[in-house]
Amino acid sequence: MGTLQLLITLSSITIISTKAHNITEILAGFPEYSQYNNFLSQTKLNDEIDSRQTITVLVLPNSAMSALASKHPLPVIKNALSLLVLLDYYDPTKLHQISKGTVITTTLYQTTGNAPGNLGFVNITDLQGGKVGFGSAASGSKLDSFYTKSVKQIPYNVSVLEISAPVIAPGILTAPAPSASTINITGLLEKAGCKIFVSLLETSGVIKIYQADLDKGLTVFAPNDEAFKAKGVPDVSKLTNAEVVTILQYHASSDYTPYATLKTTKDPISTLASNGPGKFHLTVTTAGDSVTLHTGVGSSRVADTVLDSTPVAIFTVDSLLLPVELFGKAPSPAPASVSAPSPTPELASSPAPVEAPSPLAISPPAPPTASPGGAPVESPESSSENSSSDNAACHHSGSALFTVTVTLFASVILS
Ligand SMILES: *[C@@H]1O[C@H](CO)[C@@H](O)[C@H](O)[C@H]1NC(C)=O
Ligand SMILES: *[C@@H]1O[C@H](CO)[C@@H](O)[C@H](O)[C@H]1NC(C)=O
Ligand SMILES: *[C@@H]1O[C@H](CO)[C@@H](O)[C@H](O)[C@H]1NC(C)=O
Ligand SMILES: *[C@@H]1O[C@H](CO)[C@@H](O)[C@H](O)[C@H]1NC(C)=O
Ligand SMILES: *[C@@H]1O[C@H](CO)[C@@H](O)[C@H](O)[C@H]1NC(C)=O
Repeated sequence: MGTLQLLITLSSITIISTKAHNITEILAGFPEYSQYNNFLSQTKLNDEIDSRQTITVLVLPNSAMSALASKHPLPVIKNALSLLVLLDYYDPTKLHQISKGTVITTTLYQTTGNAPGNLGFVNITDLQGGKVGFGSAASGSKLDSFYTKSVKQIPYNVSVLEISAPVIAPGILTAPAPSASTINITGLLEKAGCKIFVSLLETSGVIKIYQADLDKGLTVFAPNDEAFKAKGVPDVSKLTNAEVVTILQYHASSDYTPYATLKTTKDPISTLASNGPGKFHLTVTTAGDSVTLHTGVGSSRVADTVLDSTPVAIFTVDSLLLPVELFGKAPSPAPASVSAPSPTPELASSPAPVEAPSPLAISPPAPPTASPGGAPVESPESSSENSSSDNAACHHSGSALFTVTVTLFASVILS
């Protein structure tokens, strides 16, 4: 079996084993939770839930959900719902067998980085008379939400339980939620090290196009300043205004696509530059926790989340994204080496490059020096990161194929 085929086989195995459930589909069978399900999709929490292996979802019936939703903006609703997603498996039996009758459990809210202190933990207590209460683990909180019934279990992957009311952590409903239209895109990007990109957005006026989408949905992939200085990148000052505008539009889409959603994206992403089916698209590949965007000319790792505030997501990327429609056929704007291979990604047989080196892409980080047959290793970045995909300014793991390969091997051994 060739390396390419082997990798494809390994990838499919990984995809199958990490995609064990679809919460949207599970809840679709229960009209009494249609509002809850709708909000999971709007906030994209469904993708967070689906990308996790062992999870309990506490659902609210429509009446309780609409009471919560009617009074609060979407980012607050997202925080409140993420506190109802427990990162452990609790079926009705386990609820009644909690050791000493009470336990503290972690939730998705705790992993987002939005939860101050330990506000992302939930207290589950087996009360007298078979009643089970849920409350914030913060001191002084009441257990004023109760288990009402079991909805669905897929042991031991996902359990869906109905509760009577939302679990309210102190401040969760009153924390100021920035209105999307006041998000300062340029200020955030300057702080994130994307000054050149910001100045291009401002001088070209494309920032106005971005701002017009703030309320409806916007995802920005902002190249950092190094990306413009990388070898083989065209000198933007030599491009026409129209080309600059197109490139800048190519770095954003009018959909809200937070990191967990990006990780599950299979279809090409249309960008603000897309002017027809299949035009100016980005494709996404995922390896472990690392996401790479492909333009057809080159590729770029999604580096950091600068902002994730429904319906706006802002990321930094390591490389300038050059659309194949502008740079595919004639790489003349760049001092590109003629040895550039076909735009089709080609997996090398050595573990180093992720795809055939493109003159316009930055080569991936050098692999660690250990042998590929060794024990699974984590890149330094990924080991310092605690699965926070929704965090402001969180750093996503490195993309050396070596790490990926070892991880894939490990998942084969484990499955
Ligand atoms: C539970 O998840 C594991 C790992 O993803 C998967 O192999 C298994 O088929 C799932 N179980 C069910 C019943 O879906
Ligand atoms: C999950 O199920 C919904 C509803 O059936 C479907 O629209 C969606 O595409 C599914 N998601 C994935 C990732 O398969
Ligand atoms: C959960 O809350 C109850 C009631 O406030 C409290 O008695 C119990 O000690 C808490 N459980 C844990 C594990 O802290
Ligand atoms: C956005 O942030 C930048 C840098 O912090 C600041 O100079 C600018 O005035 C801010 N814009 C608005 C509209 O607040
Ligand atoms: C990060 O997660 C690991 C295990 O997943 C845990 O041992 C460690 O304490 C966590 N670190 C922080 C800072 O939460």
